[in-house]
Amino acid sequence: MLKFPKGFLWGAATSAPQSEGHATSNGKTPTTWDKWYELDPTKFTKNQGPENTSNMYDMYREDAKLMPQVGMNSFRTSISWARLLPDGQTVNPEAVAFYRSYFEELHKNKVKPIINLFHFDMPWWLMEKGGWEARESVEAFAFYAKTAFELFGDLVEMWTTFNEPIVHVECGYLYGYHYPAIHDFKKAIQVGYNTIMAHTMAVKNFREMKAKGQIGIILNVSPCYSRGETEGDKLAAKQADLLNTKSFLDPAVLGQFPQELVDLLKENELLPTTQQGDKEAVSTNTVDFIGLNYYQPRRVQEPVQKLVGKATDPSDFYAPYVWPDRKMNVYRGWEIYPEALYDVAMMMKNDYDNMPWFVSENGMGVAEEERFLDDETGMIQDDYRIEFMKEHLEQLHKGIEAGSQCFGYQTWTFVDCWSWLNGYTNRYGFYRVELDNNYKRTMKKSGLWFKELSETNRLKI
Ligand code: BG6
Repeated sequence: MLKFPKGFLWGAATSAPQSEGHATSNGKTPTTWDKWYELDPTKFTKNQGPENTSNMYDMYREDAKLMPQVGMNSFRTSISWARLLPDGQTVNPEAVAFYRSYFEELHKNKVKPIINLFHFDMPWWLMEKGGWEARESVEAFAFYAKTAFELFGDLVEMWTTFNEPIVHVECGYLYGYHYPAIHDFKKAIQVGYNTIMAHTMAVKNFREMKAKGQIGIILNVSPCYSRGETEGDKLAAKQADLLNTKSFLDPAVLGQFPQELVDLLKENELLPTTQQGDKEAVSTNTVDFIGLNYYQPRRVQEPVQKLVGKATDPSDFYAPYVWPDRKMNVYRGWEIYPEALYDVAMMMKNDYDNMPWFVSENGMGVAEEERFLDDETGMIQDDYRIEFMKEHLEQLHKGIEAGSQCFGYQTWTFVDCWSWLNGYTNRYGFYRVELDNNYKRTMKKSGLWFKELSETNRLKI
């Protein structure tokens, strides 16, 4: 039996655009996802768009009751910016009533809300002004954050500004998976920088208002493991780490950008446009805690072709490496490597002043999960997911024993939900959702297992 610290948070995470539904009603204006779907639904797997997702907008009262039934004592979701501020300035009263009632229901069911402000859902009104490319987005986000702190501060003790900000940078400006789906390394760096400044200004507002509770950010980190010990491979891992992990973690926790990253960007004429006072704002507005999403490691090797001239893509610095001995989640095509969670725990302890942190997402996506439905119990028998969580929790526990200050573990996700261009392909929930049967929720076997884990605060091994 592995015992976890007293008061440990056990839970699951989702986001507004992936779970609420009512994407274009109740006063909400479109996001880039809604617009993109309107422009080209064929981009989305099986043409499944963001309109309905898991219908939590209508079902949150019942859903809040389902959470403790799988042992959740905490739940992360996000506020939809375009729902709260449909034009960027005017507060939507329906959104206020909805979120207040939603968060109250969580409290009634003894589920601690962790509320995030941005999960890839850029309002269309801001995208039309340039989105994260434009400095205007920094002020717009800071205003939105302040509005949310004022309206819901009495119901929320733990706030986070962004979920996985590197994702909207990479997927929107390098790899084509998010709108505007362009390829421009320089713009990607500017988008990343403006995002960090938006985060910083939101934290600044939080501090100046003397808001109660704590504020953090959620990052998807994975240690960058190099193929081998050659200088080229080691440099590739270092540069991947600078661009993907330290770029956000250092300013958020340590209050400064890594000098090696600044030098690398300078050499390649990729430095973003900054404003006077930015550096000081970053240094004085660090976070209280960090949320880390971990699914699989990043393995890299030196690029096949030596860089000639200036870099135009991250692949000029590192190339992906497929470890031949890897263990796979064959249902999603991702590597399973729980040991990385111990390394993450040690990284937080040794490189980030032992800042308190929690696992804000970890989980196993499974395509066509209905194949594991057991007719007798009516439950999906997701033993593979139990095994996945178990292996990761063992490593996490090892990290906690070694002194890392991890205070919780949240899986992705509570009920099966919609996932961007992937639609409903990969199922992750403790509850199965039947899209063609009024979004009926049915607990999976992992829900029962998680309940026992949470209630005993102990992992059976
Ligand atoms: C996480 C994101 O990284 O991965 C979620 O925060 C996303 O928004 C989840 O849904 C699962 O992704 P996928 O591609 O397996 O559906």
